[in-house]
Amino acid sequence: MEPIDHIPAIVTREAVPGDFERYFDEAFQELSAESRHLRFFTAVRELPENVRERLADVDGFRNAAVVAFDAALARPDHPDGKPIGVARWMASPEGPPELSVTVIDAYQGMGVGTRLMDSLLALARKRGVRRIIADVLRENTGMRTLVNRYRAVIQRSGDPLVVRYRIDV
Ligand SMILES: CC(C)(COP(=O)(O)OP(=O)(O)OC[C@H]1O[C@@H](n2cnc3c(N)ncnc32)[C@H](O)[C@@H]1OP(=O)(O)O)[C@@H](O)C(=O)NCCC(=O)NCCS
Repeated sequence: MEPIDHIPAIVTREAVPGDFERYFDEAFQELSAESRHLRFFTAVRELPENVRERLADVDGFRNAAVVAFDAALARPDHPDGKPIGVARWMASPEGPPELSVTVIDAYQGMGVGTRLMDSLLALARKRGVRRIIADVLRENTGMRTLVNRYRAVIQRSGDPLVVRYRIDV
């Protein structure tokens, strides 16, 4: 993965319907196999249609997301800039909604994940979401460091490879 060669201008905003179709595929292309493995628990090359439909379906309440862009790379078909990350919660039939955060490889370790978490949790507070669950692979040091900043409490996950966190928003 090529490191970026300019000073990024990181901005975040809530995702709206249509963002998925516009931005998802190009951002997904910029995830390494390792990042796809850490995010989807398998190094998927292509997401199954039912997963794509769920990710596209943001209503701001049951499923909501915040997208990060590098505004230094804005262009006519990308007025917000280059899409570089997303944090979301998704309703779960079993309990509180589930959190995920993804930052494309070239922008990892630059504070984008922290910005996305801050924005997503502020949005959750506004929308009345009180608790969020995050299932994180045990080996995922980056994500575990990130969620630990938000007073996350470890819960039973039922899977030795997965650490389940509860975050009280
Ligand atoms: C996990 C992830 C979202 C973190 O985003 P990020 O933009 O890289 O995170 P930040 O730059 O805001 O860093 C947050 C903290 O995590 C630490 N961190 C980030 N990546 C790390 C790594 N690989 N190993 C150890 N610590 C790491 C940072 O040092 C920072 O802590 P610090 O401020 O005390 O130094 C991002 O690396 C990613 O998308 N990974 C692949 C997908 C994934 O694992 N998603 C989570 C699935 S639930």
